Amino acid sequence: MVKQQCEQSGTRPEAEQGDINTTPARHRYWERNLSGEARRWFEEDARHFLHQGLSTPVLNVIVKADGAWLEDLNGKRYLDMHGNGVHNAGFNHPEVVRAVKKQLDESMTFCPRRFTNIPAVRLAKKLAEITPGDLCRSLFCPGGTDAIEMALKLAKLVTGRFKTISFWDSFHGAGFGASSVGGEEHFHGGLGPLVPGAIHVEFPNYYRNPWGFTREEDVDAECLRQIELIMRREPEMAAVLGEPVSANPVVPSKRYWEGVKALCERYGALLIFDEIIEGFGRTGKMFASEHYLTPDILVLGKSLGGGIVPLAGIVTREKYNICQDRSIGHYTHEKNALSAAAALSEIEVIEKNNLCDHAAHLGARTLERLREMAGRHPLIGCVMGIGLHIGIDLVRDRKTKERAVREAEMIMFKCMEKGLACKTIEGNVITLRPALVITREEMDWALDILDGAIGEVERGLNY
Ligand SMILES: Cc1ncc(COP(=O)(O)O)c(C=O)c1O
Repeated sequence: MVKQQCEQSGTRPEAEQGDINTTPARHRYWERNLSGEARRWFEEDARHFLHQGLSTPVLNVIVKADGAWLEDLNGKRYLDMHGNGVHNAGFNHPEVVRAVKKQLDESMTFCPRRFTNIPAVRLAKKLAEITPGDLCRSLFCPGGTDAIEMALKLAKLVTGRFKTISFWDSFHGAGFGASSVGGEEHFHGGLGPLVPGAIHVEFPNYYRNPWGFTREEDVDAECLRQIELIMRREPEMAAVLGEPVSANPVVPSKRYWEGVKALCERYGALLIFDEIIEGFGRTGKMFASEHYLTPDILVLGKSLGGGIVPLAGIVTREKYNICQDRSIGHYTHEKNALSAAAALSEIEVIEKNNLCDHAAHLGARTLERLREMAGRHPLIGCVMGIGLHIGIDLVRDRKTKERAVREAEMIMFKCMEKGLACKTIEGNVITLRPALVITREEMDWALDILDGAIGEVERGLNY
């Protein structure tokens, strides 16, 4: 039914998303890689979960996640380049596990809403210390979608307005509010009207933009011109919401975000940065905002919970502490002590092991190697990224930049079979977002596999 609707509407999830459950290559992967007990659990999973384009049926069954690695039921190990963004300190970091166990042993795990507890207070205090500028007031919730929606509600209450500007192709979560500001048809389609007032614009993509500009200044100027046009004509603008660096990942210039902030100030809107993926060292600084400027509201999630427990939240300025008569995030797990203990430990691990610097240095070296590979592989149209947040845009033709969707999928599955778990987005962009504890040797090994897989597909050795 949904498939039929997609076909009728012209939506092509495999091209928008990549890495989906319905392609022939995915079926081939299952046939080649699932047997015995793994197949039995895979089938049970598929029998009992609601099916979705991006999760069930799954790729494979894993039994362990530690450091930068996953292990499947047959004992095969995968260096994971995705980790859903929760694995900045590595999966199952022993210190985070110890902190969670200690908290359990202290019998202080859940905190009813009308009370507080010491780990939660310590976490809010720690975030006030480490987040950029004068951000100092936190509010927590279980997931990123909820945190995005708290940020939107806060901006609407602060400004007394309801419209928002966000970006096409972005993802901010699957809830109604979060998918309204998200820019992907995959999450909008078939639902009828979403939250009103959500206006979308182009992200300043220097490699792919609808105007064919090649100079960053021109892309920035046009993107800013469009935001200003909307702000002038839509005086009810509450906020601009975006990831400082997009998921593909396009890395905008400082000039661009400064321009957006100036427009927000001129037209009375707040700037919200979604750092659910990029926070906690991913881009080579503790927060991606530090490459640019301090937003009015910073949204955090994923790695905040240490990759063990779900936790997300917002951090904002003192002057936006204005909700005394309302509740914008009335979540049962608002001050969950176990989650707070995990988060404090995760932050300590990142700080103690200089994982931000490691991400910056290893990321720069990885980009250099990928650019060298681009010199040999015509399939590589562009290499983008910052820190350990890297994307490889694969094209059939460097002039037309036609997206090499099928090729990207074949490369992904070839890598998977060799023990490198990478993911595609937008159909043709292979993303590398490993745990920040990944070593230089592990990254070299991963790049060798990727290099080989790209070469094979270029030579017609299909998957
Ligand atoms: C940038 C971004 N924002 C928000 C979310 C939503 O987070 P959650 O899945 O915890 O609701 C995600 C999840 O992938 C994300 O990548």
